[in-house]
Amino acid sequence: LDNGLARVPQMGYNSWYDLECSDAMNESTLRRIADRLVESGLKDLGYQYLNLDDCWAKSRRGDGTLVADEAKFPDGTLKPLADYVHSKGLLLGTYTDRGEQTCAGRPGAARHEELDAKTYAAWGIDYLKEDSCNASGDHLTAFMEYGKMRDALNATGRPVLFSLCGWKSWYAPMGSTLGNSWRIGPDDNNWQGVLQNIDIMNGLETYAGPGGWNDPCLLLSKKTTGEAIMTELQTRAQFSMWAVLAAPLLISGSVLNMSAETLATYSNKEVIQVSQDPLGRQGRRVLGGPVAEGTGNVFARPLADGSFALVFLNSGKEELNVTCGKECFGTLGLSAPLAARDLWAQQRLPDLQDLSFTALLPPAGGHRFLRVRSRGRFRGGLSLAG
Ligand code: GLA
Repeated sequence: LDNGLARVPQMGYNSWYDLECSDAMNESTLRRIADRLVESGLKDLGYQYLNLDDCWAKSRRGDGTLVADEAKFPDGTLKPLADYVHSKGLLLGTYTDRGEQTCAGRPGAARHEELDAKTYAAWGIDYLKEDSCNASGDHLTAFMEYGKMRDALNATGRPVLFSLCGWKSWYAPMGSTLGNSWRIGPDDNNWQGVLQNIDIMNGLETYAGPGGWNDPCLLLSKKTTGEAIMTELQTRAQFSMWAVLAAPLLISGSVLNMSAETLATYSNKEVIQVSQDPLGRQGRRVLGGPVAEGTGNVFARPLADGSFALVFLNSGKEELNVTCGKECFGTLGLSAPLAARDLWAQQRLPDLQDLSFTALLPPAGGHRFLRVRSRGRFRGGLSLAG
């Protein structure tokens, strides 16, 4: 969407998998999360949106104005939280649904788009995710309903990042006319769901670019309750894949109770740099087959300085050697020798003299993240030192 926002994929926190509909999803927890985003260094790395998900809204007043659940937000609005979040240099996101009710049965936006957009603007909301529960599955109806909210937000004059949550790949061709990102598949929920959404993303790359991104759902890691949805390796594999696929980076695990390893994962500057590359092209598979079937794959993303980000991924149950050879590098137009850097080991690798690289990958999320470029063909930009 051409509203000046999301020129690179948005980054931040989303409350859904972390807090869900629990009592802990409340203003005081969210204020602590804002503090922690700053103290942990995540804000300075680019994680600027603090996004509420479902279960904040309670009802409508007689005049139709939305009321926040007072048990969670004592003022009955999100304005005090927005003021606090802004005072920390962060931005506040919220959640609605294009139907009468959200997925969790809270008030939805149907027939109230203009009033709700005005309310959000008055509260100081910077980001809106609009879900698709309890709404028509007809494509044209969906596009019209999302178009209504897009226009209503635009009419407020406040820049609000608009994120469609329709869970279907048919949103992709229309996505960038309607919003800044659009969900292309179901909730990811767990490692298998992450793999399914990677498979749906592949092939949709032509629809992504500055201002509008395919959204394969939220980043998963340990919840504040301590429950682990995925292994640390899988959290890191998902983060790598989301960077190469130019996906929104919305952490939906615990910020208050984040493990040191997860923090290191989400803080890798070189991986973030790939995600936020100004060329804004989504990567695609150059080797392998459906990851949900448990395979060895290579995904590649072209970057603004002429280099490529490459993720080697093993989604299978056995250790695996994955080789990107002449054909695999050839499809990228790369010629030998290649300069290469390993973004997790954070070290330069010996030049690849012939067009071949083999990664020995552990099962269930083993991966390598390389950044490569042809020596001599491209200059500047990427420093391969160190
Ligand atoms: C749907 C969405 C999720 C989350 C929940 C909230 O399932 O896809 O991302 O917003 O609703 O109820």
